[in-house]
Amino acid sequence: MNKRASLLLFSFRYSTLASNFRSNKESNANAQVMKEIIGNLKGKVEEIAKGGGEKAIKRHEERGKWFVRDRIQKLLDPTSPFLELSQLAAFQVYDSPVPAAGLVTGVGLVHGRKVMVIANDATTKGGTFFPLTVKKYLRAQSIAEQCKLPCVYLVDSGGAYLPLQAEVFPDKDHFGRIFYNQARMSAQGIPQIAVVMGSCTAGGAYVPAMADETVIVKNQGTIFLGGPPLVKAATGEVVTAEELGGADLHCKKSGVADHYAYNDLHALSLTRKILYSCFAKESTELGTISYPLKTFEEPLYPTSQLLDIVPADLKTQYDVKEVIARIVDASHFTEFKQYYGTSIITGFASIYGFPVGILANQGVLFRESALKAAHFIELCDYRGIPLLFLQNITGFMVGKSYEEGGIAKDGAKMVNAVANAKVPKITILMGGSFGAGNYGMCGRAYEPNFLFSWPNSRISVMGGEQAASVLTQIQKEALEKSGKTWNPDEEKAFRSSLVEKYEREGSPYYASARIWDDGVIAPQDTRKVLGLTLSIVTNGRRMAQEKPAPFSYGIFRM
Ligand SMILES: *[C@@H]1O[C@H](CO)[C@@H](O)[C@H](O)[C@H]1NC(C)=O
Repeated sequence: MNKRASLLLFSFRYSTLASNFRSNKESNANAQVMKEIIGNLKGKVEEIAKGGGEKAIKRHEERGKWFVRDRIQKLLDPTSPFLELSQLAAFQVYDSPVPAAGLVTGVGLVHGRKVMVIANDATTKGGTFFPLTVKKYLRAQSIAEQCKLPCVYLVDSGGAYLPLQAEVFPDKDHFGRIFYNQARMSAQGIPQIAVVMGSCTAGGAYVPAMADETVIVKNQGTIFLGGPPLVKAATGEVVTAEELGGADLHCKKSGVADHYAYNDLHALSLTRKILYSCFAKESTELGTISYPLKTFEEPLYPTSQLLDIVPADLKTQYDVKEVIARIVDASHFTEFKQYYGTSIITGFASIYGFPVGILANQGVLFRESALKAAHFIELCDYRGIPLLFLQNITGFMVGKSYEEGGIAKDGAKMVNAVANAKVPKITILMGGSFGAGNYGMCGRAYEPNFLFSWPNSRISVMGGEQAASVLTQIQKEALEKSGKTWNPDEEKAFRSSLVEKYEREGSPYYASARIWDDGVIAPQDTRKVLGLTLSIVTNGRRMAQEKPAPFSYGIFRM
């Protein structure tokens, strides 16, 4: 078939979404609210990007060291995008601020190939590891492992945050897991490069020690199992940090490090050279899927219109295809089962040239919608098309006739399909994420390769009002049983404290701070973020060179 013919086929297969959206007073009001929400997000993110603050950065720089974000910029190609992960980690979690959990992680390009960067911020609490620092570290490593991305560790850390050691050290997903991951990734041929630009003490010493290649900066980087004070206490020996674990010792005597750098700039340029050699072998597919993949067309409608379209109020209905039309290439969308189970929209499209199967909520899930979703997931899985979940779901339908119709078993089929699909999955939490709807639409527990939230989203087991009603009802019955009554004021206070709690805990900031997602993004950035993440996940898939997997699902209860 010649090229023209296949192009023609392409345009027959896809149908262009027509947008009915016309801006009006209501949509202007939506945009106003959304702009405020996004402004709020930007403010928080900018503050976090300052790390330990101006003073701390100044002190850091006076020692000849660069601020973590400058290091990353210098490491990456000058025009590289940087997909930062878990920016809001530890936000308002601890007694005092630990911006970004003292760690910057994300994916960027070196020599045009994708790499995972994991970099301590020594201006934030000395770069020590809080519980959420560890969680963020491990999340970045697991993305790197799934997507086969070389890891660059820019090390500058005082080790575990000792007051919280019980939440940092002993458990499976604690500190030790970092080195376990390094060893396993290295065994899979995923390069592990450490750059020691500051201290690297005790457990932390294993990051460079476990790496494939290690760079260390003279008069700045140190690696030792026990620092000078510990050595003095233990053996009476008096040594300086540089003597005990500096660049000279490790590059000339111990062999713990391989490359000797005179300063940060030198270290980062050495690191780029090391990565060049990692990419040298023709056959390796490490990070080779370029971004964007091939020529593609921008959507017909500007992504900025998303702000007008998405209702400020979670309860106002709108057509989610208006969102799809502003995310996918050329606004082409081939809908699957358009007239069946219409509370979920399913169909094929591409984003930055990457094919994708989209599931988008358009209201509560009924049994038909769940069956349609399960069918569609199977299709994508068999065809090797990554899945994109545009999640905004209050849950599955409740009520006697629905239970009688077996909604639980049909919902289970959708959950089963999501859990077993072998293609990459990406979830965007656009609106609500409540109850079992979260499971069916690939919430965090279903291991989407990436999960990003919009700043207007909400996540909890059920809505605050519903939860308050349920709990008030239960409490009331309990009181009545013991012969007591509730005065209306007490009842109101009980209710509103619950609503307030759900409101606070359901916020995307609360969620992102605890790394229940990979970050909060502005709606108008969704297309870009999806382009990058699709290129990242495609990379992992190609490299794994999986044999066609047996399509194994759990038993579907028919
Ligand atoms: C989410 O769904 C609800 C109910 O279907 C709808 O009213 C609301 O506008 C949607 N919000 C978003 C952000 O998609």
